[in-house]
Amino acid sequence: MAQKNYDAQVDSLMQLMTLEEKVGQMNQYNGFYDVTGPAPTGGNAAVKYEHLRKGWVGAMLSVRGVEEVHKLQKLVVEESRLGIPLLFGFDVIHGYKTLSPIPLAEAASWDLKAIEQSASIAANEASAVGLNWTFAPMVDISRDARWGRVMEGAGEDPYLGSKIATARVRGFQGSDLSAPNTIAATAKHFAAYGFVEGGIEYGIVDIGTHTLYNQVLPPFQAAVDADVKSVMNGFNLLNGVPVTGNAFLQREMLKGKMNFQGFVVSDWASTQEMVAHGFAADEKDAALKASIAGSDMEMESGTYVAHLAALVREGKVDEAVIDEAVRRILKVKFELGLFEDPYRYCDLEREKERIYHADHQAGVRDMARRSMVLLKNEGELLPLGKKQKNILVVGAMAKDKNSPLGSWRIASDDNSAVSVWEGLSAQNPYLKYIKGPEYFDPEVAFVQEVKVNEDDLSGLEEAVAAAKEADVVVLVAGEHGFQSGEARSRAEIGLPGIQPQLIRALHKANSNMVLLLFNGRPLTLSWEAENIPAILECWQPGSQAGNAVADVVFGDYNPAGKLPMTFPRNLGQVPIYYNQYNGSRPDPQPIVFWSHYMDSEKSPLFPFGYGLSYSEFAYSDLKVDASNPKAVQVEVVLENKGKRAGEEVAQLYVRDLVANQVRPIKELKGFEKVYLQAGASVLLRFTLTGRELGYFDHQYKWVVEPGEFEVMVGGNSVNVLKERFVLD
Ligand code: BGC
Repeated sequence: MAQKNYDAQVDSLMQLMTLEEKVGQMNQYNGFYDVTGPAPTGGNAAVKYEHLRKGWVGAMLSVRGVEEVHKLQKLVVEESRLGIPLLFGFDVIHGYKTLSPIPLAEAASWDLKAIEQSASIAANEASAVGLNWTFAPMVDISRDARWGRVMEGAGEDPYLGSKIATARVRGFQGSDLSAPNTIAATAKHFAAYGFVEGGIEYGIVDIGTHTLYNQVLPPFQAAVDADVKSVMNGFNLLNGVPVTGNAFLQREMLKGKMNFQGFVVSDWASTQEMVAHGFAADEKDAALKASIAGSDMEMESGTYVAHLAALVREGKVDEAVIDEAVRRILKVKFELGLFEDPYRYCDLEREKERIYHADHQAGVRDMARRSMVLLKNEGELLPLGKKQKNILVVGAMAKDKNSPLGSWRIASDDNSAVSVWEGLSAQNPYLKYIKGPEYFDPEVAFVQEVKVNEDDLSGLEEAVAAAKEADVVVLVAGEHGFQSGEARSRAEIGLPGIQPQLIRALHKANSNMVLLLFNGRPLTLSWEAENIPAILECWQPGSQAGNAVADVVFGDYNPAGKLPMTFPRNLGQVPIYYNQYNGSRPDPQPIVFWSHYMDSEKSPLFPFGYGLSYSEFAYSDLKVDASNPKAVQVEVVLENKGKRAGEEVAQLYVRDLVANQVRPIKELKGFEKVYLQAGASVLLRFTLTGRELGYFDHQYKWVVEPGEFEVMVGGNSVNVLKERFVLD
């Protein structure tokens, strides 16, 4: 649906506004408690209430629940001079109370319809509690599993990331932003936050235009093209300039070349934090630099409301900067329908009815099983039987109802997930359980570090003894849900604490093992991949965790997920990604002088795009027809050679063999998820146009260079059929 134009309404409202009221629209306060960061000393409740009454606040964050939202909206609408309604923002990252899997997991489904549906479930529930704006989707491309925030994104690939960005924006915003069940979305963090050095939070990014334009920006462009209403900047430096104060990024690129029509919101106190970076002398200088650079709304730190009006009067900030920001913000308020009805999202009945609604639960269960990736299945150990006896489930995590919810689930109730044990034992009544050693201190919270058990092996002997008696051992292991997410960088990315000891001891007792893995990032699992016959990557599956795991483990659902991020063999390989460059000495050579590690293979443990099924899929007859250079046709036959029906994600990669800016050895440029009955085959067709065959040069110009290309199709980024063609 074409968005209605509100320019005239915005203009006439702005004529009534004082400078202070305009600046007020650019000010966002947190509710009256801290969530992800320290509330600055100026951010106390009394001051916030005073500012709300004066019309000096444009948006709140983390105020939620119909009653709370209604109260504040009423205060502003009835008591401030112009009664301009507030935006209410919140981190609805993978659901509000009903949680779908973490976003990285959803990306593993490669299922755009399901991902859109999942975002729309989240919007449905969030809008029912009074919220009208989410700080999602996070579209940061990242290649570094040490960075805890990889759980929030769609992985390492800009093509997949762009498709998912579009799906998520559509899911949140729907086709009518003013509908009571849709909310404004935010593409974040602009830009390049996923490239922080060493995976260390709040830090340093130094990348060239080649990577910025071809890896980092495309998912933002996809979100902008899907009409995302806001973009959040971030904490990081990019090439020496904090992104919040970066005019090149926000003005020249985002609002200029990328044609973004919504508004930019800062990250939590990222304006003020430019002082710590050494970019702004003080808070006033920070307000000046951020506003001039195009950061329209400030989150929480209050430097705009304190200093911007004075900066305008002193002639240091042009009033046009303020007007532009306010125009962008008001436009979104009109589009949300807030001027028509500021209480549009405040329906107590709907709130009661929507929270944890059965339809939402069914939706996230389906999303969760679509997200799981079968990494290994020797001797078809999986699926297990629902009547199979003598299966032993081991691991403290199996009965954990908290950890499977994952990170970024501020509103969801603690212990609200269906545990793995609950899910599995509901489908097979003969299962046995033994806990074994604790993995973590069970007292955990979002705002605290997880305390990992590094040395207490109590319970191990008992578990080993029970494993000896079992036919199959199912070990539930991985990271705690709060071990990934913001500020959860890890310098080692193996199984945490005592888990490697536990897994080795169990394996010695009984090697017929299934490993159910729960984690928010790629892990180093070389030993496990070599020794454990069956491994299912479950990620953090959300509210319906146990039921979704059981659907896959017992075969009601045939797994079809594919990794959206490379799994390294060891930490030294990080950052590792599939769309690498060839380098000047690529292949194994008889002497030492070639590109390799002396002490490790260079290849990944599990490559990007990888994932097995209970069926077996085969590719053949790859054909390319480049007679029309504007629409190169690619065909391939896909066959299900297994005994079960199943889904496969057919992936198409492209390489431009010679280019003025060297192209990666392969880049994903198409995929299709196909359902095939056992024994059935299908002819898949892909079309490659200039959009798939070109790249951005250093001037951000899209170039398509004629010459020889390679096209690759397969079920992951390594095992592919190849053909070449010449583009005239
Ligand atoms: C995060 C953002 C988030 C914001 C509000 C920050 O710490 O970086 O992604 O939206 O907090 O909670």
